[in-house]
Amino acid sequence: KWPEKITIKEVGPRDGLQNEKTFISTEDKIAWINQLSESGLKHIEITSFVHPKWIPALSDAAAVAAGITKVPGVTYTALVPNRHGLERAFQADIDEAAVFMSASETHNRKNINKTIDETFPVLRDLIRETLSVGKASRGYVSTVFGCPYEGNVDIDSVIRVSETLFDMGIAELSLGDTIGVANPKQVQEVLDVLLKRFPADKIAMHFHDTRGTALANILVSLDMGITIFDSSLGGLGGCPYAPGAAGNVATNDLLYMLHGMGIHTGVDQEKLLHASCFIQEKIGKTLPSKSFQAASAQ
Ligand code: HMG
Ligand code: MG
Repeated sequence: KWPEKITIKEVGPRDGLQNEKTFISTEDKIAWINQLSESGLKHIEITSFVHPKWIPALSDAAAVAAGITKVPGVTYTALVPNRHGLERAFQADIDEAAVFMSASETHNRKNINKTIDETFPVLRDLIRETLSVGKASRGYVSTVFGCPYEGNVDIDSVIRVSETLFDMGIAELSLGDTIGVANPKQVQEVLDVLLKRFPADKIAMHFHDTRGTALANILVSLDMGITIFDSSLGGLGGCPYAPGAAGNVATNDLLYMLHGMGIHTGVDQEKLLHASCFIQEKIGKTLPSKSFQAASAQ
Protein backbone atom coordinates (compact mmCIF):
# COMPACT_ATOMS: atom_id res chain seq x y z
CA LYS A 1 0.00 0.00 0.00
CA TRP A 2 2.81 2.45 0.79
CA PRO A 3 5.34 3.54 -1.82
CA GLU A 4 8.73 1.84 -1.55
CA LYS A 5 10.69 5.03 -1.93
CA ILE A 6 10.02 8.71 -1.50
CA THR A 7 11.99 11.85 -2.32
CA ILE A 8 12.74 14.46 0.31
CA LYS A 9 13.42 18.03 -0.75
CA GLU A 10 15.34 19.74 2.01
CA VAL A 11 14.32 23.39 2.30
CA GLY A 12 15.97 24.21 5.63
CA PRO A 13 18.69 26.53 4.31
CA ARG A 14 16.00 28.61 2.55
CA ASP A 15 12.58 28.22 4.21
CA GLY A 16 14.19 27.28 7.52
CA LEU A 17 16.59 30.18 7.83
CA GLN A 18 14.50 32.91 6.18
CA ASN A 19 12.33 33.39 9.25
CA GLU A 20 15.01 33.06 11.94
CA LYS A 21 16.00 36.15 13.86
CA THR A 22 19.54 34.97 14.38
CA PHE A 23 21.68 35.72 11.33
CA ILE A 24 23.64 32.59 10.51
CA SER A 25 27.02 33.59 9.13
CA THR A 26 27.82 32.78 5.51
CA GLU A 27 30.57 30.42 6.65
CA ASP A 28 28.17 28.52 8.92
CA LYS A 29 25.49 28.31 6.24
CA ILE A 30 28.05 26.85 3.85
CA ALA A 31 29.31 24.33 6.43
CA TRP A 32 25.73 23.29 7.19
CA ILE A 33 24.73 22.89 3.53
CA ASN A 34 27.88 20.81 2.98
CA GLN A 35 26.77 18.52 5.81
CA LEU A 36 23.33 18.20 4.21
CA SER A 37 24.98 17.39 0.88
CA GLU A 38 26.83 14.47 2.50
CA SER A 39 23.70 12.99 4.10
CA GLY A 40 22.18 11.35 1.03
CA LEU A 41 19.70 14.17 0.39
CA LYS A 42 19.47 14.66 -3.37
CA HIS A 43 17.63 18.00 -3.42
CA ILE A 44 18.58 21.01 -1.32
CA GLU A 45 17.07 24.47 -1.57
CA ILE A 46 20.07 26.45 -0.50
CA THR A 47 18.90 30.08 -0.47
CA SER A 48 16.72 32.67 -2.18
CA PHE A 49 17.52 35.53 -4.51
CA VAL A 50 14.74 37.77 -3.27
CA HIS A 51 15.20 41.38 -2.20
CA PRO A 52 17.69 41.41 0.70
CA LYS A 53 15.58 43.97 2.55
CA TRP A 54 12.58 41.66 2.41
CA ILE A 55 14.55 38.65 3.69
CA PRO A 56 17.71 39.90 5.44
CA ALA A 57 18.54 36.40 6.73
CA LEU A 58 19.41 35.33 3.18
CA SER A 59 21.10 38.51 1.99
CA ASP A 60 24.32 36.54 1.44
CA ALA A 61 22.72 34.25 -1.16
CA ALA A 62 25.44 34.70 -3.79
CA ALA A 63 28.27 34.04 -1.35
CA VAL A 64 26.53 30.94 -0.01
CA ALA A 65 25.95 29.54 -3.50
CA ALA A 66 29.57 30.27 -4.45
CA GLY A 67 30.99 28.75 -1.27
CA ILE A 68 29.35 25.33 -1.05
CA THR A 69 30.98 22.14 -2.24
CA LYS A 70 28.59 20.67 -4.76
CA VAL A 71 28.19 16.93 -4.57
CA PRO A 72 27.51 15.24 -7.93
CA GLY A 73 23.95 13.96 -8.13
CA VAL A 74 22.59 16.59 -5.76
CA THR A 75 20.33 19.30 -7.19
CA TYR A 76 20.93 22.72 -5.65
CA THR A 77 17.84 24.91 -5.91
CA ALA A 78 17.23 28.56 -5.12
CA LEU A 79 14.02 30.54 -4.79
CA VAL A 80 13.64 33.38 -7.33
CA PRO A 81 10.87 36.01 -7.43
CA ASN A 82 11.64 38.01 -10.57
CA ARG A 83 14.12 38.65 -13.37
CA HIS A 84 16.60 40.43 -11.12
CA GLY A 85 16.57 37.39 -8.83
CA LEU A 86 16.98 34.99 -11.73
CA GLU A 87 20.00 36.87 -13.04
CA ARG A 88 21.59 36.70 -9.59
CA ALA A 89 20.76 32.99 -9.39
CA PHE A 90 22.27 32.26 -12.80
CA GLN A 91 25.42 34.15 -11.85
CA ALA A 92 25.61 31.93 -8.79
CA ASP A 93 25.21 28.85 -11.02
CA ILE A 94 22.27 27.27 -9.23
CA ASP A 95 20.89 24.05 -10.79
CA GLU A 96 17.19 24.76 -10.45
CA ALA A 97 15.06 27.88 -10.03
CA ALA A 98 12.00 27.69 -7.80
CA VAL A 99 9.33 30.26 -8.61
CA PHE A 100 6.53 31.01 -6.18
CA MET A 101 3.16 32.68 -5.83
CA SER A 102 0.05 32.31 -3.73
CA ALA A 103 -3.45 31.00 -4.37
CA SER A 104 -4.83 33.89 -2.29
CA GLU A 105 -4.65 37.47 -3.49
CA THR A 106 -3.70 39.14 -0.19
CA HIS A 107 -0.84 36.81 0.67
CA ASN A 108 0.50 37.12 -2.85
CA ARG A 109 0.51 40.90 -2.53
CA LYS A 110 2.06 40.95 0.93
CA ASN A 111 4.72 38.44 -0.09
CA ILE A 112 5.77 39.64 -3.54
CA ASN A 113 4.03 43.00 -3.93
CA LYS A 114 1.91 42.01 -6.92
CA THR A 115 -1.58 40.75 -7.66
CA ILE A 116 -1.96 37.19 -8.87
CA ASP A 117 -2.63 38.35 -12.43
CA GLU A 118 0.41 40.65 -12.38
CA THR A 119 2.54 37.73 -11.19
CA PHE A 120 1.74 35.36 -14.06
CA PRO A 121 3.71 37.18 -16.79
CA VAL A 122 6.69 37.59 -14.45
CA LEU A 123 6.83 33.87 -13.72
CA ARG A 124 6.19 32.95 -17.36
CA ASP A 125 9.28 34.94 -18.29
CA LEU A 126 11.37 33.33 -15.50
CA ILE A 127 10.37 29.80 -16.41
CA ARG A 128 10.99 30.37 -20.13
CA GLU A 129 14.41 31.86 -19.38
CA THR A 130 15.32 29.01 -17.01
CA LEU A 131 14.34 26.32 -19.50
CA SER A 132 16.21 28.10 -22.29
CA VAL A 133 19.51 27.67 -20.45
CA GLY A 134 18.79 24.00 -19.81
CA LYS A 135 17.90 24.28 -16.13
CA ALA A 136 14.78 23.01 -14.41
CA SER A 137 12.07 25.08 -12.87
CA ARG A 138 10.00 24.21 -9.83
CA GLY A 139 6.79 26.01 -8.88
CA TYR A 140 5.38 26.70 -5.44
CA VAL A 141 1.77 27.59 -4.73
CA SER A 142 1.36 29.07 -1.26
CA THR A 143 -1.76 29.29 0.92
CA VAL A 144 -3.32 26.22 -0.74
CA PHE A 145 -5.05 25.19 2.49
CA GLY A 146 -5.67 28.59 4.04
CA CYS A 147 -4.48 32.19 4.00
CA PRO A 148 -3.38 34.21 7.03
CA TYR A 149 -5.29 37.23 5.69
CA GLU A 150 -8.30 35.74 3.90
CA GLY A 151 -8.96 32.47 5.73
CA ASN A 152 -10.42 29.86 3.39
CA VAL A 153 -8.93 29.68 -0.06
CA ASP A 154 -11.09 28.73 -3.01
CA ILE A 155 -9.99 25.48 -4.68
CA ASP A 156 -10.70 27.10 -8.05
CA SER A 157 -7.94 29.58 -7.35
CA VAL A 158 -5.53 26.74 -6.50
CA ILE A 159 -6.47 24.97 -9.74
CA ARG A 160 -6.04 28.13 -11.79
CA VAL A 161 -2.60 28.97 -10.40
CA SER A 162 -1.44 25.33 -10.64
CA GLU A 163 -2.65 24.92 -14.21
CA THR A 164 -1.03 28.16 -15.27
CA LEU A 165 2.33 27.21 -13.73
CA PHE A 166 2.28 23.77 -15.39
CA ASP A 167 1.36 25.37 -18.73
CA MET A 168 4.34 27.67 -18.33
CA GLY A 169 6.65 24.66 -18.09
CA ILE A 170 7.45 23.91 -14.44
CA ALA A 171 8.72 20.36 -13.92
CA GLU A 172 7.08 20.00 -10.52
CA LEU A 173 4.54 21.81 -8.37
CA SER A 174 4.88 22.12 -4.62
CA LEU A 175 1.59 22.69 -2.79
CA GLY A 176 2.22 24.86 0.26
CA ASP A 177 0.35 24.79 3.53
CA THR A 178 2.08 28.06 4.33
CA ILE A 179 0.57 28.59 7.77
CA GLY A 180 0.09 24.97 8.76
CA VAL A 181 -3.69 24.88 8.96
CA ALA A 182 -4.45 21.81 6.85
CA ASN A 183 -6.00 18.65 8.23
CA PRO A 184 -5.98 15.19 6.60
CA LYS A 185 -9.57 15.38 5.36
CA GLN A 186 -8.86 18.68 3.63
CA VAL A 187 -5.64 17.31 2.10
CA GLN A 188 -7.59 14.38 0.74
CA GLU A 189 -10.24 16.67 -0.74
CA VAL A 190 -7.70 19.02 -2.36
CA LEU A 191 -5.61 16.16 -3.76
CA ASP A 192 -8.73 14.42 -5.02
CA VAL A 193 -9.40 17.42 -7.21
CA LEU A 194 -5.80 18.16 -8.25
CA LEU A 195 -4.80 14.57 -9.04
CA LYS A 196 -7.58 14.41 -11.62
CA ARG A 197 -5.71 17.16 -13.45
CA PHE A 198 -2.01 16.61 -12.73
CA PRO A 199 0.12 13.46 -12.37
CA ALA A 200 1.02 12.50 -8.78
CA ASP A 201 4.71 12.26 -9.63
CA LYS A 202 4.76 15.98 -10.50
CA ILE A 203 3.24 17.08 -7.20
CA ALA A 204 5.18 17.73 -4.00
CA MET A 205 3.61 18.55 -0.65
CA HIS A 206 5.02 21.38 1.48
CA PHE A 207 3.57 21.26 4.97
CA HIS A 208 4.37 23.66 7.75
CA ASP A 209 3.84 22.08 11.15
CA THR A 210 2.34 25.09 12.93
CA ARG A 211 -0.47 23.06 14.49
CA GLY A 212 1.09 19.61 14.64
CA THR A 213 -0.84 18.14 11.70
CA ALA A 214 2.00 17.90 9.16
CA LEU A 215 2.82 14.19 9.54
CA ALA A 216 -0.86 13.24 9.48
CA ASN A 217 -1.22 15.26 6.30
CA ILE A 218 1.82 13.53 4.82
CA LEU A 219 0.40 10.12 5.62
CA VAL A 220 -2.81 10.93 3.73
CA SER A 221 -0.76 12.32 0.83
CA LEU A 222 1.31 9.11 0.71
CA ASP A 223 -1.90 7.14 0.63
CA MET A 224 -2.99 9.13 -2.39
CA GLY A 225 0.21 8.43 -4.31
CA ILE A 226 2.35 11.49 -3.53
CA THR A 227 6.04 10.61 -3.27
CA ILE A 228 7.77 14.00 -2.96
CA PHE A 229 7.82 15.98 0.30
CA ASP A 230 9.49 19.23 1.29
CA SER A 231 10.88 19.38 4.82
CA SER A 232 13.31 21.37 6.87
CA LEU A 233 16.00 20.05 9.16
CA GLY A 234 14.98 20.32 12.80
CA GLY A 235 11.66 21.91 11.78
CA LEU A 236 13.17 25.35 11.29
CA GLY A 237 11.35 27.98 9.36
CA GLY A 238 8.27 29.85 8.26
CA CYS A 239 7.26 32.67 5.96
CA PRO A 240 7.91 36.15 7.37
CA TYR A 241 4.98 37.44 5.30
CA ALA A 242 2.56 34.96 6.86
CA PRO A 243 1.98 36.03 10.49
CA GLY A 244 2.22 33.15 12.95
CA ALA A 245 3.72 30.73 10.45
CA ALA A 246 5.99 28.15 12.06
CA GLY A 247 8.57 25.81 10.60
CA ASN A 248 8.23 23.17 7.94
CA VAL A 249 7.65 19.59 8.92
CA ALA A 250 10.99 18.47 10.35
CA THR A 251 13.10 16.30 8.06
CA ASN A 252 14.07 14.35 11.18
CA ASP A 253 10.43 13.53 12.05
CA LEU A 254 9.61 12.66 8.45
CA LEU A 255 12.59 10.30 8.22
CA TYR A 256 11.77 8.70 11.54
CA MET A 257 8.24 7.95 10.36
CA LEU A 258 9.12 6.82 6.84
CA HIS A 259 12.08 4.64 7.80
CA GLY A 260 9.99 3.07 10.55
CA MET A 261 7.38 2.20 7.92
CA GLY A 262 10.06 0.60 5.74
CA ILE A 263 9.95 3.39 3.15
CA HIS A 264 13.30 4.14 1.56
CA THR A 265 14.62 7.73 1.35
CA GLY A 266 18.35 7.25 0.77
CA VAL A 267 19.05 9.66 3.61
CA ASP A 268 21.33 8.86 6.55
CA GLN A 269 19.54 9.79 9.79
CA GLU A 270 22.77 9.75 11.80
CA LYS A 271 24.42 12.29 9.50
CA LEU A 272 21.38 14.52 9.72
CA LEU A 273 21.47 14.26 13.50
CA HIS A 274 24.95 15.81 13.43
CA ALA A 275 23.81 18.50 10.99
CA SER A 276 20.84 19.24 13.29
CA CYS A 277 23.12 19.63 16.32
CA PHE A 278 25.33 21.96 14.28
CA ILE A 279 22.52 24.31 13.25
CA GLN A 280 20.85 24.17 16.67
CA GLU A 281 24.04 25.47 18.23
CA LYS A 282 24.33 28.26 15.65
CA ILE A 283 20.65 29.26 15.95
CA GLY A 284 21.01 29.25 19.71
CA LYS A 285 17.66 27.67 20.55
CA THR A 286 16.16 24.21 20.76
CA LEU A 287 14.96 22.95 17.39
CA PRO A 288 11.24 22.10 17.30
CA SER A 289 11.63 18.57 15.86
CA LYS A 290 10.37 16.01 18.38
CA SER A 291 12.39 13.10 17.05
CA PHE A 292 15.50 15.29 17.14
CA GLN A 293 14.81 16.20 20.76
CA ALA A 294 14.28 12.53 21.60
CA ALA A 295 17.52 11.56 19.82
CA SER A 296 19.42 14.37 21.56
CA ALA A 297 18.22 13.19 24.97
CA GLN A 298 19.74 9.73 24.49
P1 HMG B 1 9.33 45.27 -5.07
O1 HMG B 1 9.71 46.31 -4.08
O2 HMG B 1 7.94 45.30 -5.66
O3 HMG B 1 10.41 45.21 -6.24
O4 HMG B 1 9.55 43.86 -4.39
P2 HMG B 1 10.61 46.13 -7.50
O5 HMG B 1 10.62 45.24 -8.70
O6 HMG B 1 9.65 47.30 -7.47
O7 HMG B 1 12.10 46.67 -7.28
C1 HMG B 1 12.43 47.56 -6.20
C2 HMG B 1 13.92 47.54 -5.98
O8 HMG B 1 14.31 46.25 -5.54
C3 HMG B 1 14.76 47.83 -7.22
O9 HMG B 1 15.94 48.48 -6.79
C4 HMG B 1 15.13 46.45 -7.70
O10 HMG B 1 16.31 46.43 -8.44
C5 HMG B 1 15.32 45.71 -6.39
P3 HMG B 1 16.09 50.08 -6.95
O11 HMG B 1 15.94 50.31 -8.43
O12 HMG B 1 14.99 50.67 -6.16
O13 HMG B 1 17.46 50.31 -6.40
N1 HMG B 1 15.06 44.27 -6.54
C6 HMG B 1 15.89 43.28 -6.18
N2 HMG B 1 17.10 43.28 -5.59
C7 HMG B 1 17.67 42.08 -5.37
N3 HMG B 1 17.11 40.88 -5.72
C8 HMG B 1 15.90 40.87 -6.29
C9 HMG B 1 15.26 42.11 -6.54
N4 HMG B 1 14.07 42.39 -7.08
C10 HMG B 1 13.96 43.72 -7.09
N5 HMG B 1 15.34 39.69 -6.62
C11 HMG B 1 10.05 41.52 -4.59
C12 HMG B 1 9.23 42.67 -5.11
C13 HMG B 1 9.51 40.26 -5.22
C14 HMG B 1 11.50 41.72 -4.97
C15 HMG B 1 9.91 41.47 -3.05
O14 HMG B 1 8.56 41.49 -2.74
C16 HMG B 1 10.55 40.25 -2.43
O15 HMG B 1 11.75 40.10 -2.45
N6 HMG B 1 9.73 39.32 -1.86
C17 HMG B 1 10.22 38.08 -1.32
C18 HMG B 1 9.45 37.64 -0.13
C19 HMG B 1 9.92 36.28 0.32
O16 HMG B 1 11.03 35.87 0.08
N7 HMG B 1 9.04 35.55 1.05
C20 HMG B 1 9.35 34.26 1.56
C21 HMG B 1 9.48 33.21 0.53
S1 HMG B 1 7.93 32.52 0.00
C22 HMG B 1 7.57 31.29 1.16
O17 HMG B 1 8.22 31.21 2.16
C23 HMG B 1 6.49 30.29 0.84
C24 HMG B 1 7.03 28.91 0.40
O18 HMG B 1 7.91 28.37 1.38
C25 HMG B 1 5.87 27.94 0.17
C26 HMG B 1 4.87 27.89 1.34
O19 HMG B 1 5.29 27.63 2.50
O20 HMG B 1 3.69 28.15 1.06
C27 HMG B 1 7.80 29.03 -0.93
MG1 MG C 1 7.25 27.35 3.13
